[in-house]
Amino acid sequence: MDDLQTIRAETLAAIGAAGDLRALDAVRVAALGKSGRVTGQMKTLGGMAPDQRKEFGALINTLKGEIEGALSARKVELDRAALSARLENERIDVSLPARPERVGHIHPLSQTMDEVCAVFGEMGFVWAEGPDVEDDWHNFESLNFPPDHPARQMQDTFFLPPRADGMPMVLRTHTSPVQARTLLDPATQKMLKAGGSLRVIVPGRTYRVDSDQTHSPMFHQVEGLVIDRVTHMGHLKGCLTDFCRAFFEIDDLPLRFRPSYFPFTEPSAEVDIGCSWKGGELRIGAGDSWLEILGCGMVHPNVLANCGVDPNEFQGFAFGMGIERIAMLKYGIPDLRTFYESDLRWLRHYGFNPLDVPSLTGGLGR
Ligand code: PHE
Repeated sequence: MDDLQTIRAETLAAIGAAGDLRALDAVRVAALGKSGRVTGQMKTLGGMAPDQRKEFGALINTLKGEIEGALSARKVELDRAALSARLENERIDVSLPARPERVGHIHPLSQTMDEVCAVFGEMGFVWAEGPDVEDDWHNFESLNFPPDHPARQMQDTFFLPPRADGMPMVLRTHTSPVQARTLLDPATQKMLKAGGSLRVIVPGRTYRVDSDQTHSPMFHQVEGLVIDRVTHMGHLKGCLTDFCRAFFEIDDLPLRFRPSYFPFTEPSAEVDIGCSWKGGELRIGAGDSWLEILGCGMVHPNVLANCGVDPNEFQGFAFGMGIERIAMLKYGIPDLRTFYESDLRWLRHYGFNPLDVPSLTGGLGR
């Protein structure tokens, strides 16, 4: 018959030698299971005299406790080893260089916005922005669109539920509400009164109910605004001519200022750039055809007055253009919808190297 010392020695040795949880469990069953060796010893208790039973029972219980303690200690060790092995196996080498095709690209829309801002930045414009969810007052009313004015229909508006105070809300249909927001800013008014000149450039998302090959319900515009005491139509023409030539990187690019109408400018114009179609292919530059690329005009006195700027003292010009449109023209992208499809092949083809930050001196991005 097994004596307790032998069972103890052999079982503790087997626990120490168990290499994984499964082996450890087999050791447990062999000692403490239904027909295990320790359990076998317990069964002999019934045939013993009370004194002997008491003494031997205590010894078995001690042994049982010792074995259970050794089992759980070994289990902790094995668990820890299993975890380290897993961590080692699943380790990711973050120092591994990325394969070239995994390098990201700058989206042509981001690049184009950066290019536009780089050109106007050189002319002293500073960046500004406003909210996409806009109220009716900033999007229309302040900009001299009276309620029910037919010009509101030029902009197929996404209407939102009104604000708590009853103000109708919209997704802004253009970046022009940022004109009003900038003019209303007390810092702007203080600067103007002190003789400064306001020059802001406002890139951002805009929304209209429209969707086809050249229109998307969400698109991007960039707005510009110049206000001071002396800026006139000649400055508008010079500024936008310089911009178009710098942006398209064509020094003698012809421009045409065509009379137009916007409620918030007077006089208003649309700007066309020269182009030609050879064999169905569009070429920007001197040619026999014109492409419309932006809207502009002298800021309407009502807009200034609505925003707390005295139109008898201050004047200036504003312009707005679609980013998608000028990006398509400059980079030969035929379908506007592809801008938003996140097709990696398209992004690799039309995207830009992240380190090619556009600047007038460093090149705008070809
Ligand atoms: N907001 C006009 C549009 O979206 C563009 C524009 C801006 C025209 C500023 C004149 C002055 O069509």
